[in-house]
Amino acid sequence: MSGHIATIILAAGLGKRMKSGLAKVLHPVAGMPMILYPVRIAEDISSERIVMVIGHQADRVQKALSGRNVEIVHQAEQRGTADAVRLAMESLKGYRGRVVVLCGDVPLMTSKTVSELISAHQKCSASVTVLTTEVEDPTGYGRIVRQADGSILKIVEDKDASDDIKGIREVNTGTYVFNSPFLSEAIREIRAENVQKEFYLTDSIEIGLKKGVKVSTYKTREREEVIGVNSRGELAMVDGMMRRRINNHHMVNGVSLINPGSIYIDAGVTIARDVTIYPGTTIQGDTTIGKSSVIYPNSRIADSQIGEDVTVKDACVIEESRIGNGSQVGPFAHLRPGTILGKNVRVGNYVEIKKAVMGEGSKANHLTYLGDAEVGSGVNIGAGTITCNYDGWKKHKTIIGDGVFVGSDTQLVAPVKIGDGAIIAAGSTVTKDVPPGALAISRVEQRNMEGWAEKRKKRKAEEE
Ligand code: UD1
Ligand code: CA
Repeated sequence: MSGHIATIILAAGLGKRMKSGLAKVLHPVAGMPMILYPVRIAEDISSERIVMVIGHQADRVQKALSGRNVEIVHQAEQRGTADAVRLAMESLKGYRGRVVVLCGDVPLMTSKTVSELISAHQKCSASVTVLTTEVEDPTGYGRIVRQADGSILKIVEDKDASDDIKGIREVNTGTYVFNSPFLSEAIREIRAENVQKEFYLTDSIEIGLKKGVKVSTYKTREREEVIGVNSRGELAMVDGMMRRRINNHHMVNGVSLINPGSIYIDAGVTIARDVTIYPGTTIQGDTTIGKSSVIYPNSRIADSQIGEDVTVKDACVIEESRIGNGSQVGPFAHLRPGTILGKNVRVGNYVEIKKAVMGEGSKANHLTYLGDAEVGSGVNIGAGTITCNYDGWKKHKTIIGDGVFVGSDTQLVAPVKIGDGAIIAAGSTVTKDVPPGALAISRVEQRNMEGWAEKRKKRKAEEE
């Protein structure tokens, strides 16, 4: 994008109709706080500066913005969009470039459309260009009133509109480009003379015409992009549209989604090509999935790195974990935070893992709990193995060397260390370290009492 650009994001409104304890702009759309969508646009159009006007829950909004290069301006009292822009312009004092204004509650807006708006603005050397669109139901939006020659005359807010003007279906999207000297002048002249007693940024159009500067519009056909979120119903609608957009993006990139309407992929997820995702899957947060992996139905994967050629069988929960190439997980496995699986690892039915590493080729195929553990490579963990990592006070570590065979139904009472190549007999309770290459067996020796069962059977028959 050519030229110098600063972006102002208006986000001080309370969002009363959300009926929420959370500021509206913090509500997530496709797993990402709404406020980050305009920030992303501001970044995409190479804004030299990004100034956000915030009011409610400033601390939490600032936290959501951490790591982003955004300057914050506080608006204590929400006196209207022009008042908010005036505060932002105090921060941008002396800035000579163009100023893009975006709303904090319009997450479907794209940088493509905003770039087109900026190009249109530059092409006709306007002082202000408003992004407009035509909608089926313009209720609630400012209407674009045009002159006989088709150029813009003014913007009239819904609440101030006569019946005639209410019939206009071309609306103000709340997205603008201004030349900064004109914007600074205009906001000084705006008065709160309207039904809402608010300072309307939209009045800058009439002020521009009065001053004789060029005032322009750019009309987009992408009418879904302008939908503002004011209620939970609109939030759900916008969220659904965003997810459809995200799913399409992945399909275009070579990902197969089976019944995409039932698959929820958050905005921050990265998926390589030839991955297949089955219905009912939710993929959240900062997750990546490597090429040719298959995710079978009904799993939730959050903030995890899934390697290449990985198979996640049905109904797994995977959180803050890493899965190496060629591994298989599930069905019904729970990988809790801190799980790291190497290459070609197998984790099967009803296995729970927490803060544990499993080396290459190791297996825990059935009914197992591994917590606070380091498992080497080529290890076989038998069915029903449990690391007893918690003594009711502190957590302790279990270390299992390479090539260890842990027989079924074993309890490993941590802290405990099993040396390389050792074998643990099935049914053992291991409380002491096991040397490399040793057999550990800790169970009551079996006694067989000849004929005992037969005798009891007879006794029972006699009594009946
Ligand atoms: C505004 C426009 C309207 C347009 C619509 C598009 C004005 C007067 N009206 O109306 O023409 O069709 O957006 O969605 O500009 N905000 C502040 N401080 C304030 C007031 C608002 O930061 O004092 C922020 C809000 O948080 C919001 C944005 O500005 O992100 C728009 O404000 P809102 O009250 O939602 O304006 P609308 O009535 O929707
Ligand atoms: Ca709004």
